[in-house]
Amino acid sequence: MRLVMIGAGYVGLVSGACFADFGHDVICVDKIESKIEALRNGVIPIFEPGLQKIVEDNQNAGRLQFSTDIAAAVRDADVVFIAVGTPSRRGDGHADLSYVYAAAREIALAVTGFTVIVTKSTVPVGTGDEVERIIRETNPAADVAVVSNPEFLREGAAIADFKRPDRIVIGTEDARAIEVMREVYRPLYLNEAPLLFCERRTSELIKYAANAFLAMKITFINEIADLAERVGADVQKVAKGIGLDKRIGGKFLHAGPGYGGSCFPKDTVALVKTAQDYDSPVRLIEATVAVNDTRKRAMARKIVAACGGDVRGKKVAILGLTFKPNTDDMREAPSLAIIQALQDNGAIVHAYDPEGMAAAKELLPGTTFGKDAYEIAEGADALVLVTEWDEFRALDFRRLGNLMTSAVFVDLRNVYPVREVTRHGFIYHGVGRRNSGA
Ligand code: NAD
Ligand code: UDX
Repeated sequence: MRLVMIGAGYVGLVSGACFADFGHDVICVDKIESKIEALRNGVIPIFEPGLQKIVEDNQNAGRLQFSTDIAAAVRDADVVFIAVGTPSRRGDGHADLSYVYAAAREIALAVTGFTVIVTKSTVPVGTGDEVERIIRETNPAADVAVVSNPEFLREGAAIADFKRPDRIVIGTEDARAIEVMREVYRPLYLNEAPLLFCERRTSELIKYAANAFLAMKITFINEIADLAERVGADVQKVAKGIGLDKRIGGKFLHAGPGYGGSCFPKDTVALVKTAQDYDSPVRLIEATVAVNDTRKRAMARKIVAACGGDVRGKKVAILGLTFKPNTDDMREAPSLAIIQALQDNGAIVHAYDPEGMAAAKELLPGTTFGKDAYEIAEGADALVLVTEWDEFRALDFRRLGNLMTSAVFVDLRNVYPVREVTRHGFIYHGVGRRNSGA
């Protein structure tokens, strides 16, 4: 089949490359010329494990192409996926749909023959209706079906998530579109991924409900972590103890500095806005958003307390800046608010991240960046693990202790067993565990 991806970002590029790997002919279109030029030359604009190889292989096999010419790409397509950004609209928190609607107009002008238009971007309920209206208004002769097919991949594990999803949700009641979408996903269906067909609006709501539920689950365990600290319990054991109940499940119960990233923060707020518009408030999600917002600054207060209540003139070394490991994405990363709060309190912040520093340098003026954990730890009053990259899982605490001014370790991801750190003379501060050490 001939597929087109509009938007070659985290979702469009990964989905396009994976569809090509399954044997489809794919053209990824983006309006940023430098991005397309780089992709044509084999340079992947994002860090996503495994993506380089899959792009290269499929480009060489002639199944994956890159273009800025949306009209030429769409003309012969069977299916056109819209995978452009839907960021928070400045001012009111609704999803900004201007990129989706602009893409719909451009697609409408170029389609020939029956074409399935699929919104893969995360879009509020009713967006499919508006995309269809725009297409019919722009080109009344266009023979299209507009389908919702939200994407559930996670950054850092995107290829595995795309190729072996828990489910594929397809929102359409159009018989021709159902057949086409079955064909598109046949390879994944053969991978035993269940295809869930439903109405378009249901599909759109499934995406927001899924993200909101996961954000709520993380926020729940974060609040239990705070309580565990007060009452002298260990949140990791609480998470295990509740997660073994199959009705609850053990995933997304890792307490930490609050959820970040390009999806949960904007999608929870957008759902709250949609619900308010329909006079059917989602109060649990309103609370989730509010609790998560306060958490990042609370983490900064935890670090200040670990430094004896005052960080003025003290050096704080930050390990990990991206919102999660195995990505270079800094969107809504907890590190941003934490570092800002530390600097507001007079701290001198040094930081290191394996993949996020190029973006972080733009976002964190006043921060000094180092080449590894040991360089930034030199002379530091506290070392803080914010993002759990693998390379921070086997730190040499003896060496760190010798480099640092005070042996204080704040582990915002509970990566280390307490004893492994304290036996080198460190004071350990985790999340939802008792502080311990010298
Ligand atoms: P992104 O910002 O990485 O990529 C979007 C791309 O679309 C950009 O390269 C931009 O230049 C391009 N674009 C915008 N308008 C265009 C147009 N008219 N023609 C051609 N290209 C255009 O965004 P992303 O992270 O890939 O997210 C895309 C959508 O997928 C969002 O709705 C997001 O909520 C959703 N989503 C993201 C993830 C994720 O992990 N990032 C996961 C699931 C769903
Ligand atoms: C999320 C959804 O998981 C995915 O299905 C959707 O398509 C896009 O949004 P992503 O943002 O890439 O994916 O990463 P995810 O692994 O969900 O993590 C999101 C945030 O939650 C990160 O900041 C992460 O550190 C945090 N998190 C996650 C926790 O704090 N604890 C957990 O147990 C899990």
